[in-house]
Amino acid sequence: MSNVTRHIGLSLGADICWPLCFEEILKRLDLKVKQGGNTVTFDVNRVTIEPFDLAQDVKYDVVLDRLTHWYHTSREWVKKAVLMNGLYVLNTPWTIQSMEKHPTYVAMMRLGLPIPKTWLVPPKSYDQTPDLQPTLERYAKLFDLGEVGKKVGYPLFMKPYDGGAWRGVSKIDNESALKAAYDMSGKNVMHLQKAVAPFDLFVRALGVGPQVRVMKYDPAAPLHDRYVVAKEAEFVSAKEREHLAAVCLTINAFFGWDFNSCESLKKGGTFHPIDFANACPDSQVTSLHYHFPWLVKAKLRWAIYAAATKRKFRHDLNWAAFFKIADEESSFDDKLAQYAKLAAKHFETDKFEEFCAKHLKHLDEVAHEFFATPAARDAVHKKVQALYPQHEWAQFTDLFFARIQKWRDAEK
Ligand SMILES: Nc1ncnc2c1ncn2[C@@H]1O[C@H](COP(=O)(O)OP(=O)(O)O)[C@@H](O)[C@H]1O
Ligand SMILES: [Mg+2]
Repeated sequence: MSNVTRHIGLSLGADICWPLCFEEILKRLDLKVKQGGNTVTFDVNRVTIEPFDLAQDVKYDVVLDRLTHWYHTSREWVKKAVLMNGLYVLNTPWTIQSMEKHPTYVAMMRLGLPIPKTWLVPPKSYDQTPDLQPTLERYAKLFDLGEVGKKVGYPLFMKPYDGGAWRGVSKIDNESALKAAYDMSGKNVMHLQKAVAPFDLFVRALGVGPQVRVMKYDPAAPLHDRYVVAKEAEFVSAKEREHLAAVCLTINAFFGWDFNSCESLKKGGTFHPIDFANACPDSQVTSLHYHFPWLVKAKLRWAIYAAATKRKFRHDLNWAAFFKIADEESSFDDKLAQYAKLAAKHFETDKFEEFCAKHLKHLDEVAHEFFATPAARDAVHKKVQALYPQHEWAQFTDLFFARIQKWRDAEK
C-alpha cells in the first residue's frame, strides 16, 4: 500500500468562476481514495503556457482543457502530452479540430437523427491564391441560389458550416432575403438549414462523461436569462429526458468528446438536434447560473474518476460499430438504445456510478455547503467583474448568487 498523488490540470483562458469552485470543493472533499492497492490523493493546478520540449515529461494525469479550439500552443501541448505521456484530456483535440459543425450534422444524419434538411453552398468570395482561378474556371458550376433555397424550404437559417457563438447566423424568410444575406456572407462557407419553426421547446443537453443535464433554453432572452431556471421535470417527461440524454451521449461517444452540449428543438413531438459541435460549451456562472453548480460537480466527479482509475484515453474512434447499428432494419428508437449502450460502454457508466457511490458520497453535501459561502460568492463576483460594467457588478452578482441559492433549495 502506498500513497500516490494524481495531478489534475486546468488549461484555461477566460474561465474564472468554475475553476475557483472546482479547486475549493476538491480541497474540501479531502479525498483519500483506495484504488488498486494505493491511497490516492489529488492535486489541482493551472496549466501554464510556455515553450516545451516535445519529449519532456508531463506531470498531469488528467487535463480539463478550454483552449484547444482557438489557442494552438495549448492544443499542440495537449496532443504531445496524449501521444507521448499518456495524458487523459477533456476533450480530444483531434476531433475538435476536424469536426466542424458540418461533419457532425452529416454523421448524425447517417445514424438516423432527425437533423433538419441542410445544404452547403460555396462561398460568395475567396482569398486570392494562385490556384483559385484555374480551379473555379474548370470546376465551379454556376448555381441558382434561389433553387437551393426552394429545396431547403423557408424559413431557413443561413449559418457558417463551422459555426460557433452565433457568428453570422441569420433567419431567412424568402428568396430575396436569401440572396441579400448570401451577398453579405463574404468568404464564409455557409449552410442553409430548414428552420424548426415555430418550435415548442428549446433544450440544451450538457454532457460531462456519462452525466447529462437537460436545460430549457430561450434564445430570444438576454444572455443572463437564456438558460431558464427550471428543473428537468418541469419541461420534459422522464422518457423525453432519457431520449435527450441518449442523443447527447451518442454524439459525445461518437466524436470522443467527454464534454459537449447538444441543442435540440422540439416540434410536433420530435426533438430535432440543430447544434451539437460544442466541445467547449458554456461553463460560466454568468450564463449557467442556476445550473452552474451541477456543472462544477459533474466536472469534479469525472476528473476525479479519470485520475483515480487512470482511465485510458481512447486514441481511436469507433465509428464502424455505430454505422453497423445504423444499417440495421430497425426503428430509430431501437437504434438509439443501442447507440446509448455503446456510449455507456465507452463512458464506463456502471463503473463510474459505483466509484461515485463509494468514494464521492460526500460531494453533494460539501458542494451544497460550499455554494453558500463567501468564497463561492466571490467566484461569481470575479466573473461578473470581468464581463459587466462596474455599475452592474452588485446587481448581477446578487442575481447569479441568488439563483445558485435557488439551486441549493431545490437540491435539499
Ligand atoms: N434549424 C434551425 N431552426 C431553428 N432555429 C435555428 C436553427 N438553426 C439555428 N437556429 C437558431 O440560431 C441559433 C444559432 O445557431 P447554431 O446552429 O446554434 O449556431 P452556433 O454554432 O453559432 O451556436 C440557435 O441557437 C437557434 O436559436
Ligand atoms: Mg448554438
